[in-house]
Amino acid sequence: MPVSGAVPPTSTLEGGPVSAVVILAAGEGKRMRSSRSKLLHEIAGRTMLSYAVDAATELQPEHVVVVVGHLREQVEAHLAEIAPHVTTVVQTEQRGTGHAVQVALAALPDLAGDVLVTYGDVPMLTSDTLVELVADHRGARTAVSVLTARVADPTGYGRIVRGAGDDVLAIVEERDASEAQRAIHEINSGIYVFDPQTLREGLAQLRPTNDQGELYLTDVVGLAREAGRTVSAFATRDAWQTEGVNDRVQLARMNAEVNRRILDGWMRAGVTVVDPASTWVHASVDLAEDVTLLPQTSLEGATSVAAGATVGPSTTLVDVEVGEGATVVRTHGSLAVVGAGATVGPYAYLRPGTVLGERGKIGTFVETKNAQIGARAKVPHLTYAGDVEIGEDANIGAGVIFANYDGVTKSRTSVGRASFVGSDSTLVAPVTVGDGAYVGAGSTLTGDVGAGELAVSRARQRNVPGWVARKRAGTKTAAAAEAASASSGAPDGGTPSPDPSGDDPVRLPEQTETVVPAPLSDQAVVPPGSDRPDTNERES
Ligand code: UD1
Ligand code: CA
Repeated sequence: MPVSGAVPPTSTLEGGPVSAVVILAAGEGKRMRSSRSKLLHEIAGRTMLSYAVDAATELQPEHVVVVVGHLREQVEAHLAEIAPHVTTVVQTEQRGTGHAVQVALAALPDLAGDVLVTYGDVPMLTSDTLVELVADHRGARTAVSVLTARVADPTGYGRIVRGAGDDVLAIVEERDASEAQRAIHEINSGIYVFDPQTLREGLAQLRPTNDQGELYLTDVVGLAREAGRTVSAFATRDAWQTEGVNDRVQLARMNAEVNRRILDGWMRAGVTVVDPASTWVHASVDLAEDVTLLPQTSLEGATSVAAGATVGPSTTLVDVEVGEGATVVRTHGSLAVVGAGATVGPYAYLRPGTVLGERGKIGTFVETKNAQIGARAKVPHLTYAGDVEIGEDANIGAGVIFANYDGVTKSRTSVGRASFVGSDSTLVAPVTVGDGAYVGAGSTLTGDVGAGELAVSRARQRNVPGWVARKRAGTKTAAAAEAASASSGAPDGGTPSPDPSGDDPVRLPEQTETVVPAPLSDQAVVPPGSDRPDTNERES
């Protein structure tokens, strides 16, 4: 994987593991204006909180503690699902970052080693950066090390006030800062490593003597200085890693940045991305060399695309496996498998349980669900295939409906190997069509068809000579009929023209006979030839 979220567990922490990583996640996230916890909003298909928990976990600390509060039922349920190893601590009232860490430490009475503090809403922070921060802290033998970044616009952040010799004197919140301090462009990321004793002593001395009346974790820095200890700052070159998400504008911007990095990684790994600006690939997706992604393609979840396959344009695949050399055009798919060399779309909808065999085809305006379609089988046009098994080399004509639902239960249909289902047929499940069978176009099947049989179930065609002249006199149609009979010499224009393709499977000999029945009512009219849509797949 080309992205940072998937680095292997870090075991390279010199000086042993840290005692605890405390992830602050109790705040309200008001500016998201959401009934969903801010931490559960997603970046590249994963919750913001999951990135924070993964980065912490990869350090292999003795404890990972998440401080929860606002919408904590949602957050706790999510954590139980994605990270059962973490300890959650409840901060019932959000009285500031310092208070949040006090609550966390109360749950961890015997910490002996370093304590890392991070946030739940800083998704791009990597465990590699945390390792560097810890290494810097241990190398400099300071009491506190703070992760900082130099940014063009420091608005809203705490500023790093450095003394001579570069050590950190204090962190000042913007609202409490002087004019001169506001001009500082080095910002506090809110991510720190603390020597445990310094942290405990500092936390015990915090007072809410600031503009917000909160207990500020940042004040532990000033208190450590007053106690004669040193504080260092470690400035990351990648400011994105310190970036928090407070509203949906920042969420979109960060999604774009993470996506850009993911695509850069894949392009360097041999994937052609024609339009990176409109292509979205989640961190969980796997792509092979010589995959081509055309514009407006989104690949999500456990989607994988094998070598030489082309996906897009305008395609969304969630948990779809695309085989080698396959083509998927203007398609929406989920939980489906597309075999090697198969083609899908344009305008296909692959629903869960769709499995298309090697070199199979799901064509235009086709919806599939729970459909196992064999190698080289074709479902080319305008079809609903739900709860079906279609054998190898079978050919499904245009407009075929596999009617799987009777309003109460769903039933399955199977079509055998190399069988041919004529256009505009409805197969009312449960139905089994054997191997090498034919179904005549326009049939409605309610019973099985044996191997090698032809099934036809439709009204016979009736042609009524002279009907137009009698019933539609004075219309353009009648004029055309009259002109046709004059030029052909035929009495009335009522004889169907012979069909040139004598091998057409859906045409039964007896049906070419002209049947002249009793007079038809106006409503019963079926125009000649209407049961022979010439739309069956002919390409081989
Ligand atoms: C904090 C820092 C600031 C830094 C900035 C970086 C303090 C006083 N200020 O400011 O120097 O530049 O982060 O983003 O620490 N939280 C709790 N419980 C609380 C309060 C906050 O869990 O009682 C959590 C929030 O959910 C959030 C994090 O702590 O994840 C930061 O809180 P926030 O209020 O956003 O701090 P800032 O004002 O941004
Ligand atoms: Ca913040």
